[in-house]
Amino acid sequence: MKKASGQATPLTAGRAGTLSGTVRVAGDKSISHRALMLGAIATGVTRIRGLLEGEDVIDTARAVTALGARAQKKGDVWEVTGRGVGGLTQPAEAIDYGNSGTGVRLMLGLVAGHPIEVKFIGDASLSRRPMGRVLKPLRQMGLEVVDDKETLPLTVRGSDQLVPMEYVLPVPSAQVKSAILLAGLHAAGETTVVEKEATRDHTERMLRYFGAEVRTQKTANGTRITVKGDAELEGRPVTVPGDPSSAAFLIAAAVLVPDSDVTVEGILYNPTRTGFYKTLQEMGADITLLNMREEGGEPIADVRARGGKRLKGVRVPPERAPSMIDEYPVLAAVAAFAKGATRMEGLAELKVKESDRLAATAAGLAANGVEAKIEGDTLIVTGSKSVPGGGTVATHLDHRIAMAFLTLGLVSEKPVTVDDSRMIATSFPEFRGLMEQLGARYEAGA
Ligand code: S3P
Repeated sequence: MKKASGQATPLTAGRAGTLSGTVRVAGDKSISHRALMLGAIATGVTRIRGLLEGEDVIDTARAVTALGARAQKKGDVWEVTGRGVGGLTQPAEAIDYGNSGTGVRLMLGLVAGHPIEVKFIGDASLSRRPMGRVLKPLRQMGLEVVDDKETLPLTVRGSDQLVPMEYVLPVPSAQVKSAILLAGLHAAGETTVVEKEATRDHTERMLRYFGAEVRTQKTANGTRITVKGDAELEGRPVTVPGDPSSAAFLIAAAVLVPDSDVTVEGILYNPTRTGFYKTLQEMGADITLLNMREEGGEPIADVRARGGKRLKGVRVPPERAPSMIDEYPVLAAVAAFAKGATRMEGLAELKVKESDRLAATAAGLAANGVEAKIEGDTLIVTGSKSVPGGGTVATHLDHRIAMAFLTLGLVSEKPVTVDDSRMIATSFPEFRGLMEQLGARYEAGA
């Protein structure tokens, strides 16, 4: 799948025969961004194996290079030559973050502690997304927002005199938490983030691994995560595990297509990321976890999915949302085949992803004859034994909407078309190749 430029590239999924095989997916997107960024502010060289080479992460590799920390691929390994904490330098040009909300939000936190001026730009989707959620706390610490606005394009000026602070997250967002912690590394004193709902904790884990002091304390009011400022980080080897959010499409397809038997090896199985797999099990899907292990401070598993079991609709509670926030579109596709209704609650954050995913998911389902209803922040999908399909889905520059409906089309009566598949390259360039390796078929065009 090509770089997202030029003409939209529609793609059509038709009914698949049995899916089978054992595959691996590319590296986790969240961990890949963080490995490049921490490598950039560590001393020495950080060698990264299994880095996701999707466009979002490549944008971060370019960004750290523009900021003076060279990231380059040597053989199978990405090497980042770090500048030490506080050592990033003024880039010559604007940093183009393409489609990547994670990249730009974390990077705002990272540049906040440097006395440099940086302009961030992005594509139409990213330029609509709210940056106020990171700018507000970062401003309190000392970041100056040169043009007084909260969407890209945006110019900010950092400071080497950041003030540490305590911040209670108003939204359950690992991006906001991480931006503050990255800024906190550069402040004189301790910076604390309080989260009421657990969000992915890769930043905390990797900061510790690179030698920063990070304390996590569970209290009645949530979890307090404290980072010690004026930190020193040392470059470390990182192996990036497979992305559970990408594997979700393969596993969902295997669950839905009768007689399928698919194993995805080496998936990151951190409990802050596994809500989708837990939900599939509650729906009655045949999912087995094999070979649970720990690598590089993160839990890993091989996940085997077998297809054809009749699924049942379930209630997905709001507190589970952060652990499967990127998986709701594909869960909705699975729910379309379950007996009864699946209620997915607490989805406010879905509205501010690469698209309004709540609306885009419901509209895509409706276009393919599936009963879907939005009630406030809840999505209710009423399943059935067969889904008509035959619709064209508007993807709104959103990779996960495209992949979710290219999964639905493998089991619907008529083919499902997505209006554009280019954005898939931002997170999962191997999507089509891996699906076809398992037995799925896609056709270019509508
Ligand atoms: C991410 C956090 C999530 C997720 C995104 C990656 C991260 O966003 O949707 O794909 O790497 O921290 P929020 O933190 O805004 O929920």
